[in-house]
Amino acid sequence: MSCLITGTAGFIGSHLAEKLISEDYNVKGIDSFTDYYQRERKLRNLSNLKNQKNFNLVEGDLTTIDLAKSLENVEYIFHLAAQPGVRKSWGSDFAVYVRDNILTSQRLFEAAKDYPNIKKVIYASSSSIYGDSERLPTPEDSIPRPNSPYGVTKLAAENLCNVYHKNFKLPTVALRFFTVYGPRQRPDMAFNKFITRISEGSEIEIYGDGTQSRDFTFCADTVSAISLAKNAEGGSTFNVGSGKSVSLNQAVSIIEELVGKKAKIVNKKTAEGDVKNTSADISRIRKLGYAPKYSLREGLAKQVEWQLHGTLS
Ligand code: NAD
Ligand code: UGA
Repeated sequence: MSCLITGTAGFIGSHLAEKLISEDYNVKGIDSFTDYYQRERKLRNLSNLKNQKNFNLVEGDLTTIDLAKSLENVEYIFHLAAQPGVRKSWGSDFAVYVRDNILTSQRLFEAAKDYPNIKKVIYASSSSIYGDSERLPTPEDSIPRPNSPYGVTKLAAENLCNVYHKNFKLPTVALRFFTVYGPRQRPDMAFNKFITRISEGSEIEIYGDGTQSRDFTFCADTVSAISLAKNAEGGSTFNVGSGKSVSLNQAVSIIEELVGKKAKIVNKKTAEGDVKNTSADISRIRKLGYAPKYSLREGLAKQVEWQLHGTLS
């Protein structure tokens, strides 16, 4: 059994590769090591994988690589490669989002449609496609109204999933992840910044008053949902969240307790593109057997352990 993970060296992709290897898959990875954050971090993400005989990484860019070769004998594609991050997607940076989120997806789906051996193409979408949803918890059939250029590109690639499924029967599955955290979390994300700064005694910036809430999802739960999506029907869409929403202020209090220091908080204006609340209705993915296991406190304890003590990878 063979699968391809794009964005393998990233936060979620590296956890997924470990999970699929533990399920006896041969894992091919593609990653271009974009400079959004340091290469060293991505190499560290791969440290448990590099000596695995069932793991094979190609450093390459999805917009130029020979995909025909990469897709030979592949049964499942997990398409996680992207330019993530809501707040950076304005201005001239948008071109990078279009390229790494839309063009990459179109090129991958175009190539995959000619491979009958492919059983599923699982695409990493985002809660950001909803924008400020009127319905909380938000079910999958809510009208998507992204509030950031990033969300627009993630929704465009979801639409490409639907287009390739409808016209070529490409068995796509879109998974809408809600703010993922845990060991290896990207350094631009809130918890990663907060844990380091609170432990150092330096200031943290909260965009807005901290009452915004997120359905923070622990990475192992996200990855278990991605694996279950192998059994989903082609053309389907699922939310992947914890099913619980917590305010940023509450999350900071938990980090303070775990780190054993008070945060020095500086409130800044709300970031453009930020939504006020996210909350996943996870009843659809529960039917595939998904059951999130980690409370925010348990998951944050693991992230603190990884970031401050380096005892978890
Ligand atoms: P990440 O930046 O850690 O991983 C993405 C990887 O994709 C990086 O290693 C990068 O080098 C690679 N990549 C980017 N463009 C590429 C290209 N053109 N060719 C080959 N590789 C390329 O990000 P992450 O947080 O692990 O996110 C993984 C996926 O999940 C993304 O699609 C993201 O939009 C989605 N997502 C993440 C979250 C979250 O909270 N982390 C939430 C919702 C959706
Ligand atoms: C996260 C990911 O970064 C996106 O890639 C992903 O697509 C999105 O989740 C999603 O769920 O779809 P975000 O919710 O903005 O986006 O995640 P964080 O960076 O962890 O931010 C959480 C909250 O903390 C936001 O309100 C943000 O404005 C705030 N924040 C972040 C701060 O107040 N200060 C900071 O220094 C960083």
